[in-house]
Amino acid sequence: MTTILITGAGGEVGYTLIHELAKNKDNYVVATSLHDLPPESEKESSEFIQMDITDKDSVTSVFAKHEFDTIFHLASILSTGGEKTPELALDVNTIGSINILEAATKQGLEIKKSIKFIFPSSIAAYGIPNLEEKKKAGKVTEKEYGHPITMYGMTKIFTENLGIYFSENYQMLSDIDRDNLIDFRCVRFPGLLSPDTLPSGGTSDYGSEMVHSAAQKRDYASFVRADSKIPFMAMIDAVMGIIKLSEADKKSLSQKVYNIRGFSPRASEIADEAHKLFPGTKITYDNINEIRQGIVDSWPEDLDDSPAQKDWGFKAKYDFERTFEKYLLPKIKERYGI
Ligand code: SER
Repeated sequence: MTTILITGAGGEVGYTLIHELAKNKDNYVVATSLHDLPPESEKESSEFIQMDITDKDSVTSVFAKHEFDTIFHLASILSTGGEKTPELALDVNTIGSINILEAATKQGLEIKKSIKFIFPSSIAAYGIPNLEEKKKAGKVTEKEYGHPITMYGMTKIFTENLGIYFSENYQMLSDIDRDNLIDFRCVRFPGLLSPDTLPSGGTSDYGSEMVHSAAQKRDYASFVRADSKIPFMAMIDAVMGIIKLSEADKKSLSQKVYNIRGFSPRASEIADEAHKLFPGTKITYDNINEIRQGIVDSWPEDLDDSPAQKDWGFKAKYDFERTFEKYLLPKIKERYGI
């Protein structure tokens, strides 16, 4: 059996990740979350434990109960939510991450095993100073523009670095067995589009909201301009990406943080697809939220994911059109009984 811990299992990524991991009967999936899971996730996971990642005792008791092979640390307050409650975002995204990284490191040293630690970071880890520069930058590499403007972005960069520290330099003056430190692996996700769940508290949320609103025959007032451009991908490609990264041969990984992406549409192109699939509603752009717009403008218009392709064979299965027509459409129709 492979024992897998998921934190933040009640979120959008957790929903699809649990569904995919449950297909392998050799996986024992311990889903943890502060709040209840959706009923489907509760059924598909091997065990649900209520855990508050900011509470060390709560984390310690989960690690006392199980020895983990792999951890997917998903719990996080997203970019818009993080600007509403920056102190909470700081607490959950940094103290929470420290608690999970520490517990995994200690457990690995104790049971003499390097635990795989998969961390989804984000396009929010980037900070591009203005639109002119954004256009010029095009597809950015992992090494560029590492000065995000949001609390969420800063906590992502911090946790990326902390994960690298715990996997390489933890207690560097002592003679602990460094082979049993955590095996930290990280992707930077673009915006994600899921047919099964709706995002909340993110800034790339307009992508999903346009499609789900049109499907529900509701007009949608976009909070970003029509020409806003950031990368997106199908949720299933994002989840298969982190599963694939968790299974990759460590020797093939030349870096710890990898960009992955699917396609890079303008908001108006997402709106056009939403209307094509679900005609009859309007998407308007006369109620822009300047703060959220500023966040999107600070994120790259595309990501260079060539290291992920080269090192561990990442390739998104769904391009822009297939994501809408083959992935979102059938499942959204089922969801809303269309
Ligand atoms: N979807 C996230 C957000 O918008 C980005 O990682 O906050």
